[in-house]
Amino acid sequence: MPHGRPLRRHWLLDEGLRFLNHGSYGATPRAVLDAQAQWRSRMERQPDRFMVTELPAALEAAAARLAEFVGALPGSLAFVENATAGVNTVLRSLDFALGDEIVLSRHAYTGIRNGAQYAATRSGARIVEAQTPFPVTDSAAIADAYASAIGNRTRLAIVDHIGSPTALIHPVAEIVRACRARNVPVLVDGAHAPGSLELDLAALDADWYTGNCHKWLYAPKGCAFLCTAPRAQEVTRPLAISNFAGEGYWREFSWTGTRDPSAFLSVTAALDFWTEMGGAAIPAWNHRLVVEAAAKINAAWGTEPTAPEAMLAGMATLKLPWAGEATQAIADRVHDWLLAERRIEVPVLAFDGALWCRISGQIYNDLADYLALGEAMPQAL
Ligand SMILES: Cc1ncc(COP(=O)(O)O)c(C=O)c1O
Repeated sequence: MPHGRPLRRHWLLDEGLRFLNHGSYGATPRAVLDAQAQWRSRMERQPDRFMVTELPAALEAAAARLAEFVGALPGSLAFVENATAGVNTVLRSLDFALGDEIVLSRHAYTGIRNGAQYAATRSGARIVEAQTPFPVTDSAAIADAYASAIGNRTRLAIVDHIGSPTALIHPVAEIVRACRARNVPVLVDGAHAPGSLELDLAALDADWYTGNCHKWLYAPKGCAFLCTAPRAQEVTRPLAISNFAGEGYWREFSWTGTRDPSAFLSVTAALDFWTEMGGAAIPAWNHRLVVEAAAKINAAWGTEPTAPEAMLAGMATLKLPWAGEATQAIADRVHDWLLAERRIEVPVLAFDGALWCRISGQIYNDLADYLALGEAMPQAL
C-alpha cells in the first residue's frame, strides 16, 4: 500500500509541517474537496432546481452508500454536521426529569459533556461519570466502570467508541449489551470510529450511534451521521424542526432549513478515495504506524505505554516525562513551542494530574515525524 510523505501530494497540508493530529479535525484530500466544489457549482447554477428536484435523491443515495459502509439498517442513518450535533440531537429528543441520570465517561469529550450538562440542568437531571481508568491494561475495566455507574435512575448512557483524550477503543458491544439488558437507552459517540474501525451498526444495536466522516473517512468538514434504531426513530427529532416536521425520521432530518449539503454529498467521493488508497488496509497501517511510533517514543522518554495495542486504533496517548504542575496553560505552551520551533502539530493535554500528547497516524505520515516529536519534546518541556 502506498504511504508516507509522497502521499502528501493528495492533501493541501502545509509543506514542512509535521502533522500528527489527524484525529481532531481530519484533513480532507484534494480529490474530495474537488468533488465538493462540483456539488457546490451544481447547486449554484440553478439553486431552486437543485434544492427541490436534485437534492432529495442525491442525499438519499449518499446516505445509502454510507449506511452500507457502516453496516446500518436501511433508513436508519441521517446526516448531521458533526458528532456534537448527533449527541445534542439525542439529548434534546429525550425528556429528562428531576433526579434522572445521564451516564458518561469521566474522559468524555468536553463538548459532549457540556451538551449533557445543559440537558441535565434544564430538567433537574444530573450527570454521573463512569470512572474509566487510564492508563489501562484491559478493556474489561472500562466496561466495569460503566456497569458501576448505571443505576435505576439512568435515562441515557453515552459511550465513547474511541475516547478523545485517551485514544482508547472502548468495549462498546459489551457496554451496549449491558445497557440493553437493563433497559437503559444507549448512545455511542463514534466521533473517531468511521474509517478507523470496521463498523456493523445493525449488529451493535445501540439506540443511537453518531459518527464523523470528516475525521478518519476523509470527508469534508461538516459530514457526520446519526444512526437511530427503528425503536427510537419516532422520538428522535432534528435540532432544527423545519418543513417536514412529523413526516418521519428520514424526511425530517433531510431538510432542517437551507444549508450547504455539499459535505454530505461528497461522502461518496470520500469513500471512493478511501477505497482507492487501500480501504481496510488504511486503518491497519495507521494502527501499526502509531503503535511503532509510541513504542519508540516511550523508549526515548522512559515512559510506559498507556494501553495495550489492541485497545488502540490510529491514535495513541503518550504520557509526557514531566513531574511539574500539569495545567492546560502549561500544556498549551508546550504545544505552541513544538509548533513554532519544530513545526510539529500535536495536541498536548493536561488531565488526571499529568501532561499527555495524543499522536495520530495517517497514510501521509512517516516514522520520522514521530521520531522528531520524540526528540523535540524534552526540549519543549
Ligand atoms: C469522542 C469525541 N466526541 C465528539 C467529538 C466532537 O466532534 P465534532 O467536533 O466533529 O462534533 C470529538 C472530537 O474530537 C471526540 O473526540
